[in-house]
Amino acid sequence: MPQHIAIIMDGNGRWAQQRGMDRIMGHKAGAETVRRMVEECVRLGIPYLTLYAFSTENWNRPQYEVEALMRLLSSSIRQEVPKLKENHVRLNAIGHLEDLPQVCREELEEACRLTAHDFSLTLTLSLSYSGRSELKYCMRQLAQQAADGTINSQDIDEQTISKNLYTADLPDPDILIRTGGEQRISNFLLWQIAYAELFFTPVMWPDFNGQHLREIIQQYQNRERRFGKTSAQVQQESLSQAQK
Ligand code: FPP
Repeated sequence: MPQHIAIIMDGNGRWAQQRGMDRIMGHKAGAETVRRMVEECVRLGIPYLTLYAFSTENWNRPQYEVEALMRLLSSSIRQEVPKLKENHVRLNAIGHLEDLPQVCREELEEACRLTAHDFSLTLTLSLSYSGRSELKYCMRQLAQQAADGTINSQDIDEQTISKNLYTADLPDPDILIRTGGEQRISNFLLWQIAYAELFFTPVMWPDFNGQHLREIIQQYQNRERRFGKTSAQVQQESLSQAQK
């Protein structure tokens, strides 16, 4: 089973427009899909789910849409806390959270605090997030540590970088899914998806369901993850692993 699934939830706006509805209705339907996906991941025993809920670039959308998304986020988080606790889900958030409206930040902090114990799934919402700004933040931190003399520049390795990202306590995603038909990464988890298996589906996020997720996991299980090695090496390793 994959340990960590990351999802770019795309297609809410088009889903609504195709039905003659306002884009906001698409986001509302998208929030329902979030709930279903969390429940599915709990059922499947997946320990980490990370969702791209709002990118740094999304602040450039029309003001009414940004405000509606922030309201939806606050109300969904508030409403979901009991269900999250019941399902043993810990809420976590990454991104430039200082950009969020205060009420939204407070709801988020409270929900993270209330769900911090006794969990089997960590649900991470990426909010006001972009991969490049995360890397910029990481580089500034490391440069400061080098200037302070708490780190030697020669000692900076891949692990040091991973530990200075917003995702320091999360494993790298095994699977990255993008719904909505586009085939791009859109500045999401740029460092962390180095070896993720990528899946692009034309299904709009509000229509994405447990069956779609299970099919992707099945395809993932049939892919050979070589991490730069040859197929023969990988097969030999899994044989030795099985014999242990
Ligand atoms: C992309 O679809 C989606 C977003 C920018 C927002 C995602 C938000 C939600 C799913 C709802 C709230 C989330 C939580 C965690 C409760 P789009 O609007 O870019 O779709 P389009 O490409 O069809 O225009």
